[in-house]
Amino acid sequence: MSVIDERYILKHPKSAEAFRQAADVFADGVTHDTRYVMPFPVVMTHGQGPLKWDVDGNEYVDYVCGHGSLILGHSHPAITLAVSEQVSRGTHLGGNTELELRWAKAIRELVPSVEKLRFHSSGTEATMMAMRLARAYTGRNKIVKFQDHFHGWSDYASAGSDGGTGGIPASTWESMIVVPSGDISAVEETLGSDGDVAAVITEPTGAHMGQYPLRLPHFLHDLREVTERYGVLMILDEVVTGFRVSRGGAQARYGVKPDLTTMAKIVAGGLPGGVVGGRADVIDMIAHTGDAEWDNNRRVAHPGTFNANPLSAAAGATCLEMLAREPINERADEMADRLRRGLNEVMGKMEVAGVAHGVSSLVMVAFGVECEPEEMWKLSSHDVHAAAKPGAAQGFKRGMLNAGVDVMGGRGFIVSASHTDAEVDKTLAAFEECLAAMREDNLV
Ligand SMILES: Cc1ncc(COP(=O)(O)O)c(C=O)c1O
Repeated sequence: MSVIDERYILKHPKSAEAFRQAADVFADGVTHDTRYVMPFPVVMTHGQGPLKWDVDGNEYVDYVCGHGSLILGHSHPAITLAVSEQVSRGTHLGGNTELELRWAKAIRELVPSVEKLRFHSSGTEATMMAMRLARAYTGRNKIVKFQDHFHGWSDYASAGSDGGTGGIPASTWESMIVVPSGDISAVEETLGSDGDVAAVITEPTGAHMGQYPLRLPHFLHDLREVTERYGVLMILDEVVTGFRVSRGGAQARYGVKPDLTTMAKIVAGGLPGGVVGGRADVIDMIAHTGDAEWDNNRRVAHPGTFNANPLSAAAGATCLEMLAREPINERADEMADRLRRGLNEVMGKMEVAGVAHGVSSLVMVAFGVECEPEEMWKLSSHDVHAAAKPGAAQGFKRGMLNAGVDVMGGRGFIVSASHTDAEVDKTLAAFEECLAAMREDNLV
């Protein structure tokens, strides 16, 4: 048995037992594909700030951070208070609320391209709606997306993604055009030869939270120029980058104004929620006009039991108002910069091939790759995959858990404003321990 597995099994007996029960009731024994860890995932009990704990009493520095939704860390007192107060006032009021208005205003203040918006329950719903709005607005059918870019798990968004596409009718993808990530000439050729394209959708910093980076800011500016020239809508999927890579998202950081923006994660302050916002004339495709022919045939319907749920609204408004007032993004970025530098130093010192890169508080590790972090955009996802030894990502995830750190999906660190120098130091020591074990297991 590998060194990492042996330690992992020894350290997590109660998780192993809980997993036996979980495997009986959940497919794969998990409730989200990326939580699948062999031979079993760790079962968590609670979190506080940058830390969380498992059923065996082990403490972790957390870099999953609610899949990127917790920029304030776990159970921030202001969020806890806002949500607890709202719980006692009602978890669903079945009507408009002042709270949802406060939430919307906080979004508009931070993201000026959002003239109007609608709330959803998740990022998947938000990107589904953005694509539908674009189709309805332009009267065209096709959406261009980039290879490997993740926009949730809907049928359309799953085009050009890795595996797991069973159950999706082949006809769905007749209206999806997948082009290589970052390839502006391919976009230009497509828009030039196909008059049926409604929109281009992109992750702003590259596929999978910037694991495979784009050349920034050039790519976003070029995409804006090309889409504008062909009269095609640009959808910026800021589900991860929104309120993170700057308080106004990637669009504020890189100076680009999309027609539509999709948001989730941080927007709801760590609770479930999503948003499509953007040009008023596009969002108003949801509005009734009183013209029966239009309302029945052209209007975009938008129900959803938990749209603008009061608990999410309370958490979201509180979080975004704090981001507007306090140097939260700056704090998270500063810790991430220290972490990124430290990870590269550790790999250098231990002579492990690899590079820590990423934008803002998203820190990615590419094992086996040897280039400057700023040059990562030159590599394709295939190059990055091929550079790592088989099993490196899973070994990294488990090796870091053994050393008291939980990383996101075996590929990186999502840093919050609650992380301090102490957690970063602990993480770097854990990384050294993990690399030593990975070396013994021939994973680096
Ligand atoms: C860029 C991006 N878009 C959309 C989604 C889907 O969001 P959700 O998981 O809330 O459905 C994700 C999820 O991680 C994402 O990273």
